[in-house]
Amino acid sequence: MNILILGSGGREHALAWKIAASPLTTKLYCAPGNAGIAQEATCVALDIADHPAVIAFCKNAKIDFVVVGPEVPLVAGIVDDLEAAGIKTFGPARAAAQLEGSKGFTKDLCKANNIPTAAYERFTDGAAAKAYVRRQGAPIVVKADGLAAGKGVVVASTVDDAEAAIDMIFSGGLGDMAEVVVEDCLIGEEASFFALCDGDTALQLASAQDHKRAYDGDKGPNTGGMGAYSPAPVMTEAMNKRVMDEIVLPTVAALKKAGTPFKGVLFAGLMITKDGPQLIEYNVRFGDPETQVIMLRMMSDILPALIAARDGQLKNFDLRWYGDAALTVVMAAKGYPGSYAKGTVIKGLDAAAEIDGVEIFHAGTKAEGDNIVANGGRVLNVCARGKTVAEAQARAYEAVDRIDWPEGFCRRDIGWQAIAREK
Ligand code: AMP
Ligand code: GLY
Repeated sequence: MNILILGSGGREHALAWKIAASPLTTKLYCAPGNAGIAQEATCVALDIADHPAVIAFCKNAKIDFVVVGPEVPLVAGIVDDLEAAGIKTFGPARAAAQLEGSKGFTKDLCKANNIPTAAYERFTDGAAAKAYVRRQGAPIVVKADGLAAGKGVVVASTVDDAEAAIDMIFSGGLGDMAEVVVEDCLIGEEASFFALCDGDTALQLASAQDHKRAYDGDKGPNTGGMGAYSPAPVMTEAMNKRVMDEIVLPTVAALKKAGTPFKGVLFAGLMITKDGPQLIEYNVRFGDPETQVIMLRMMSDILPALIAARDGQLKNFDLRWYGDAALTVVMAAKGYPGSYAKGTVIKGLDAAAEIDGVEIFHAGTKAEGDNIVANGGRVLNVCARGKTVAEAQARAYEAVDRIDWPEGFCRRDIGWQAIAREK
């Protein structure tokens, strides 16, 4: 089969690495891709927001199956458009992608179906939102309703901070946002839960945990994710079952009943509280950098699973996993998640990749002559497998230390919660 992956980050590099290994893959393309993805796939300079251009490429290159990485094209309806053109695509249609596209939509769906999530109210008016915040008190969480590239959530420890967040959102600080959700602050440990869905049923993937804060000790600003590991020890077998029964399967059933079935990968951001799992948010795509560690642990061929999700055939499907743990350290350009330089030269990648169990995925790189240069905020994902999270962590940092990139930085404590439990 000829396959096209859409996207250009570490998540897409990990998917490309895994899909390239499938015996079903004849030719693999990625649009637009990056310098690392180019080792696995032919990169195509397409604007993936231009759906007619993507469709035209698929027809020319005789693409049999498209895998969509990021949320923006999903929410924009790229799956609807590709499928209407007769091109089979992995990912949810626009109506189902609202689970990520609108926090209010997801909260209302949870309320109507008794899915555990923080108590909340929706507001289109700043004054009413602020009055609610004053009644509820702090800590409290303010969320912009639409896609905000990870910047739409403020966990406010004071009423003043919450009111400032409401003002910032309604005055256009995150672009055009007509609505906020204000919700209770949940206390517990976070985990990322992934399930392939075929509109009817769901198949759980390996669990993972990511580190959202920029600096060691989970301090500093929120980011897209500075590292991740799998499995997440907080996700015991009993907890996984509760998440499937109380959160994922009711969501799949509700969307089917609404006539907007969810196909693709459902990514539940969870808070594991003392009373059980609570849904923080849904994403309608693979997590980044969680996918990087999940792909390293997946023993089965991923492609038949993605096709079965698209075809509504997951019911009798099974996936096999390696027992090893996996961990990834994100190397970012200094300054991220604020402003940072592009174009700085990265050396030592080959020496780093030689370490046993290490795999390096590129998140934001570009080839310039013989050099690999940084081309984004999150730039590299240095990944490793090990018998334990501690072993995977040691290998990943050994590789990090062989990478010569003075303009980059990373956290030195990825996996600390899991490693503390292993001791
Ligand atoms: P989200 O973009 O919804 O995943 O939110 C980003 C981060 O904000 C989450 O990963 C949590 O760390 C935090 N967060 C969001 N909602 C809540 C909540 N209700 N209670 C506590 N933390 C939250
Ligand atoms: N790592 C979290 C995300 O992909 O949104």
